[in-house]
Amino acid sequence: MKVILITGASGGIGEAIAHKLAERKHNLLLVARNASKLGTQCKQMAERYGIHAQYIAADLAKPGSAEQLFLETRQRGLEVDMLINNAGIGSGGEFSELALESELELLQLNISSLVALTHLFLQEMKARNSGTIINVASMASFIPIPYMATYAASKVFVRHFTQALTQECKPYKVHVMLLCPGLTKTNFNSAAGIDGEVGKRLNAEYNSSTPLQTPEQVAEELLTALDKKKDYIVSGRMNRMASRLSALLPSTFLAKSFARSYRKK
Ligand SMILES: NC(=O)c1ccc[n+]([C@@H]2O[C@H](COP(=O)([O-])OP(=O)(O)OC[C@H]3O[C@@H](n4cnc5c(N)ncnc54)[C@H](OP(=O)(O)O)[C@@H]3O)[C@@H](O)[C@H]2O)c1
Repeated sequence: MKVILITGASGGIGEAIAHKLAERKHNLLLVARNASKLGTQCKQMAERYGIHAQYIAADLAKPGSAEQLFLETRQRGLEVDMLINNAGIGSGGEFSELALESELELLQLNISSLVALTHLFLQEMKARNSGTIINVASMASFIPIPYMATYAASKVFVRHFTQALTQECKPYKVHVMLLCPGLTKTNFNSAAGIDGEVGKRLNAEYNSSTPLQTPEQVAEELLTALDKKKDYIVSGRMNRMASRLSALLPSTFLAKSFARSYRKK
């Protein structure tokens, strides 16, 4: 059976993307750690949209989990014709004060598992001469963000890796696409433990009346861009402007401004 595999599908942007794809009658394979939430979602989506929805509970911050997930799709006889690497976590605060173990887990989830899943499923897509891979980076990939150093750098990796693969995969008709959301109303900050003082300093917008995007808006923009076969999308008009502006400014200047603003608050 053909399925779309979405990591980080139990909440936030991943869950919103799953709903939009289910509305379009795609069969889904949802992946995250929370098995009971995934089970409920699959049941609801199957009933509401008449699709086949199944899940695999996996902790992608653990080495080897991407390979296990790939094997499980084979055992279930699934053909993953779209892979959406959305699962990701943040961290915030002074780097030297953060737990090393958590920072390394962040890299395993945001980078290593994404690379492993891309590598494993790309082989099959290349052989079939069709398929789509969507990797989720962030507006953070445009700026070296002090006090969010590891997260922002992990998203630079995702952006460069994905944009390079987009070109490598053109001859095989495998569409590799990059999504860069800006601040979006999800569980992201609290999952990263930055919903308190640190979060306020990092992004005051989370706590002010500035309109953030909803996960549904991000998902809608992604699918519109996908329909147009775009290679790259920054969701949100203001985010698109900010990403263009950041490309014109020296990265040292951006890093200094972010550090100053964090310390002032
Ligand atoms: N929200 C924003 O402002 C924002 C901005 C730019 C980019 N992004 C990016 O968008 C993506 C989605 O974030 P979100 O805002 O939707 O965050 P979220 O609401 O915290 O959702 C994260 C998803 O990832 C899953 N996940 C977390 N750790 C995992 C692990 N170790 N193994 C497997 N799954 C895991 C979570 O499910 P379980 O807890 O059940 O595992 C959840 O389904 C991330 O890559 C993030 O970096 C977010």
